[in-house]
Amino acid sequence: MSDQQTPTNELADVAPEAWSGVHRGPLRAGEWVRLTDSKGRRHNFELVPGKRFFSNRGHLEHDDLIGREEGFTIASSAGGEYLVFRPLLSEFVVSMPRGAAVIYPKDAAQIVALADVFPGATVVEAGVGSGALTCSLLRAVGPFGKVVSWERREEFAEVARRNVDQFFSAPDGRTHPAWDLRLGDLTEELPRSGQRADRIVLDMLAPWECIDAVADALVPGGIVCAYVATTTQLSRIVETLRAHGGFTEPQAWESLVRDWHVEGLAVRPGHKMIGHTAFLVTARRMAPGEQAPRKKRRPAPGAYGVDYTGPRPADLPPEVVEERFDA
Ligand SMILES: C[S@@+](CC[C@H](N)C(=O)[O-])C[C@H]1O[C@@H](n2cnc3c(N)ncnc32)[C@H](O)[C@@H]1O
Repeated sequence: MSDQQTPTNELADVAPEAWSGVHRGPLRAGEWVRLTDSKGRRHNFELVPGKRFFSNRGHLEHDDLIGREEGFTIASSAGGEYLVFRPLLSEFVVSMPRGAAVIYPKDAAQIVALADVFPGATVVEAGVGSGALTCSLLRAVGPFGKVVSWERREEFAEVARRNVDQFFSAPDGRTHPAWDLRLGDLTEELPRSGQRADRIVLDMLAPWECIDAVADALVPGGIVCAYVATTTQLSRIVETLRAHGGFTEPQAWESLVRDWHVEGLAVRPGHKMIGHTAFLVTARRMAPGEQAPRKKRRPAPGAYGVDYTGPRPADLPPEVVEERFDA
């Protein structure tokens, strides 16, 4: 079938009970659209009947967008060309209003995949910040799962609530049924709440302060995932998990995403890339009373010697503790 022909078996809109945050079919009033101009500048706005969108290239009537299938270009009054689509989740989270810094889509994707966030899972996260990761977690657990999001700053929780509600907007303004946004410090409130979880995701300055609470809340086999920006935080969270003893050996990694320029014979890496955003660390919770197997390999010389001041694995031989790093 050519692109000009009308398909005979149109897909209906996505079922609202799926809580995907996605719509199919003609653009409707109340939906958000994303316009991209010829220079790649993006504009996101809600479609309101009778309203005008203004840019440096004149204006557009919202009514000229409402009722059309997304994926078209439209000219503004001063001849600007705009590409019109509904925003994807990955586009929404980088353009939505922010309280705190957000987890970028490349890392959210890794968290969902490598912390194995599954439909129906119960996930605890802290802090909720601007709610970017929350959107990915809710997408992954679906309406039959649960995401309990702790945030200690009320103003950030409010930003997150608005963003998440906007993304998953339902006609009657209900919030995602799997979401439970709570105000408070995870370290104190998680033990008080008695909440158990399959997965716990920590995105905060000092995730090591939460490890006892996390260990009590995680089910055996559950996964803790920490997102940390600096190498000093990376070291401290990994060593705290090791020193706790109730987790498997932590895995630490980062992902670097590089675009490619592909044009005829000019095929090369792009000049810009998303380099460092943060490190990710995951570990699995052992069953109560069970210890993870000891590392077979001796630590690198001096790794835990006299110069090291962080948490230490409990079972280090005395000679390892006395070594100097540069000896
Ligand atoms: C970088 S932001 C989180 C961003 C969020 N993951 C997102 O994708 O939008 C870190 C947040 O953690 C919150 N926070 C820090 N320590 C916390 C704790 N112990 N309990 C709850 N929230 C905490 C901060 O107030 C801040 O809003």
